Amino acid sequence: MSYFEPDADLLAASDKALASISTARLLPAAKTFDVIDPATEEVIGTLPDHTPSDALTALAKADAAGKKWARTSPRLRSDTLHAVYAKLIENKDTLAYIISREMGKPLAEGYAEVQYSADYVRWFAEEALRAQGLYRDSPAGDATILVRRAPVGNAVLIAPWNFPMAMATRKIAPALAAGCACVVKPANLTPLTTVVVQDLMVQAGVPEDLVQVITTTDAPGFSSTLLADQRVRKISFTGSTPVGSTLMELAAKNIVKSSMELGGNAPLIVFDDADLDRAIEGAILAKMRNGGQTCVAANRMFIQEGIADAFVEGFTAKMAAFKLGNAMNKEVDLGPVIDDRAVQRLTHLVNDAVAKGATLRTGGKAPDHVGHYFEPTVLDNVPAHADIAKTEIFGPVAAISRFTTQEEVIEKANDTEFGLAAFVFTENLDRAVNVAEALETGMVGINNGLLSNIAAPFGGVKASGTGREGGAEGLEEYQEIRYFTMKRRETF
Ligand code: SIN
Repeated sequence: MSYFEPDADLLAASDKALASISTARLLPAAKTFDVIDPATEEVIGTLPDHTPSDALTALAKADAAGKKWARTSPRLRSDTLHAVYAKLIENKDTLAYIISREMGKPLAEGYAEVQYSADYVRWFAEEALRAQGLYRDSPAGDATILVRRAPVGNAVLIAPWNFPMAMATRKIAPALAAGCACVVKPANLTPLTTVVVQDLMVQAGVPEDLVQVITTTDAPGFSSTLLADQRVRKISFTGSTPVGSTLMELAAKNIVKSSMELGGNAPLIVFDDADLDRAIEGAILAKMRNGGQTCVAANRMFIQEGIADAFVEGFTAKMAAFKLGNAMNKEVDLGPVIDDRAVQRLTHLVNDAVAKGATLRTGGKAPDHVGHYFEPTVLDNVPAHADIAKTEIFGPVAAISRFTTQEEVIEKANDTEFGLAAFVFTENLDRAVNVAEALETGMVGINNGLLSNIAAPFGGVKASGTGREGGAEGLEEYQEIRYFTMKRRETF
């Protein structure tokens, strides 16, 4: 398949954006590490490699700033976040270039991520004013009960590499809205965007020490050190289930409130009565947003027999039409995957599925080009015992199998330890609701391939996690309920 080289003007503009990154707000460190462009395997940045002891220094600064921030008014916190929103949008070009260079997503998706990320900040600017309390009389009428939502305290926020900006702001913004300070650890594959976001936040009026960013290659040292410190009251993590499980064990020691957004194995179900074009369009979005590198990506596609041939034909044509190449080319709509490990994993999953009987409809391999690329790939008739049916694919590979009855597909869809997302395509309203209710997932897209929405409670059940991000629920993750009672006495 052909490969699209970068446009000279976009490359130069993105180089300028990378050169503008200031590390002045980061703590110094004895060692550094390099950030690599997955499209070219070239070094595009060098950052301090913070130690666990640096993380404690950051926590001490955040803790001091957080004590003051917790006492600020909701209005001040809201206004500050509105100012951050404006600052992020003002710098959208720089941010989009940096996201796309360090993560590899096409520039249009880089811009979409900037808006999505900034929208979280604006959403929580608005939610900051709406923290719900409660006034209640005791049943005997002899006491008044007052319930308020107080900031939970210092938050440790661990963000993944696939949305370097959005996953950071959807944690930082509710923490600030609730009145908490935070220590943020971006993924060491994509830390540059978060460094810029922190700087812009301070420029917009966020108190200097309130949002600390720790850039490190020692993720276990970072988490175990901070979670052993009683000043930490909250952890929010997006990443794999095994790491999330370890973090929850560490958090248990000091009873730290945890939000875990973990792995997925999303089923996408297309019934015979679906609108074919709508189903194909939705499936492309559910599979290929961010190059398939999202935890809600359609992982197992179940297509009912009567519509399957037409679906596979239309879906494969769209997959084969993706333009693969460097994100700094305007034509490109599929960039690299994040690293060579991802290329190796995808290669294994495809070869294993084919060896076990799947049919390769398009793609199937890494192109012979520098950078971490994988062709958009469609596998049909994937058997249930293929590794790809049980593994989070996290790349541009679609695994299709066929089914006969509704009962059968619900059983297959739920036959996984994960429960993050699912997608259902049908024009039958009763079926849509019945199937959505029967699926054991935190989120279901009905005739909709896009679940991500700032107003929605994003999160999973079973091994996919606990807690929600976004929506009103996203703010509650950073609040603790406190209750006061007042004894009542007749005074008249
Ligand atoms: C992810 O966590 O991978 C997806 C996040 C999103 O779509 O908002």
